[in-house]
Amino acid sequence: MTIRKQKTILQSNTIPQVALDFMNNTHFEEIDLVNELGELIEQYQHSNSPGKEQATEITQKMQAWIEHTVAHFKRENELMQETGFPAYRIHSEEHEVTLNRLKSATQAWQQDHDIEVLADYVFTLWPAWFDNHVNTMDMMTAKFAVMNGYREGSIDQ
Ligand SMILES: [Fe+2]
Ligand SMILES: [Fe+2]
Repeated sequence: MTIRKQKTILQSNTIPQVALDFMNNTHFEEIDLVNELGELIEQYQHSNSPGKEQATEITQKMQAWIEHTVAHFKRENELMQETGFPAYRIHSEEHEVTLNRLKSATQAWQQDHDIEVLADYVFTLWPAWFDNHVNTMDMMTAKFAVMNGYREGSIDQ
């Protein structure tokens, strides 16, 4: 049996780092989660007769990803409101669109079990979005917060 090398989706040490660690940590957690999902997808793709159990594992990982994303975006939206970030609407709308896409991808997977459609989302569409979003919206949000006196732990403790 050949052991396939896992395709890396994104790596924590190559994504852009923003000025607030709690945001970076959330991004690292998400990358770990999506890489685990990627591994499950690859196993499914290369299995001769993928079973119901494998499909369920993927669904559960997608659901965990949705939950993580809800908390991720909620916390960033709160930060923008706490600090009066001027582009709040643009950034929070990007979050909303992205969360809806993730939910649709999960629903489509649950209905059709089309692994190639899911693989395209997880390996191509989402990483491109994530890299760009962190590099633009999140970068500006964190920088603005720090420049306006926000300090990690100063509000939530
Ligand atoms: Fe973020
Ligand atoms: Fe964001």
